[in-house]
Amino acid sequence: MEVDVQFLPMGPPSEFLSSRAVVVIDVLRATSVIVHAISRGAMEIIPVITVDEAFRLAKTFPAETTLLGGERGSQKIPGFDFGNSPREYVAEKVRGKRLILTTTNGTRAFHAVSSAREILVGSFLNVGATARRCLEMGKDLLLFPSGDEGNFSLEDAVCGGMVINHLIHQGGDSIHLTDSASAAHFLYQQFKQNLIEAFHVSHHGKDLIHKGLEEDLVYCAQVDLTNVVPVFREGVIKPA
Ligand code: MLT
Repeated sequence: MEVDVQFLPMGPPSEFLSSRAVVVIDVLRATSVIVHAISRGAMEIIPVITVDEAFRLAKTFPAETTLLGGERGSQKIPGFDFGNSPREYVAEKVRGKRLILTTTNGTRAFHAVSSAREILVGSFLNVGATARRCLEMGKDLLLFPSGDEGNFSLEDAVCGGMVINHLIHQGGDSIHLTDSASAAHFLYQQFKQNLIEAFHVSHHGKDLIHKGLEEDLVYCAQVDLTNVVPVFREGVIKPA
């Protein structure tokens, strides 16, 4: 099984994706929100690219079961039910509900890789379960950090490196790393004792601290809080 990492959030050609499984990672904070909300009983999450699209789509579903979530500039969008803090998505509010989510980088990433064979949602919150699911599938794998407005994002690469660490330990000789996968694994080694430190070094982590959202960093750095590995298929994210 070949393991690769796309360090910049640009969707590879469909011929490359069609035979691969992809793990989308936006630790701060979109995929942490998605994993958390699904683990708390959300029925499905529809990631959309624009705010207008989110409002338009919401009107096509029953209002009682549909909620809007996401951010622009890391802040809650006026008229939305939730911002982009995983701590907001508690069971009492999301159980049995459909969420329409739009964020700056994370929701866009799902559409960039939509032609992949299988698309999983990864974060530190479900990192061990994500690696196990990748091994079960046995397909060549692309880890897809969502980046930071088109740029490299350190915390997503570190999370990818942690997935790779699990794969190496559990998959042994069957795992072949590309150079970028080896680089992500090296980065993970650097921060494995203290994942929060990676957030403190990263541009987006610093920005969230500056905006008073440091508690989200602590929340998103929790490892293996859940075994849920949501799947993105035909435009919708659901529990596997
Ligand atoms: C994103 O998807 O761009 C991020 O989750 C932004 C944020 O931190 O809210």
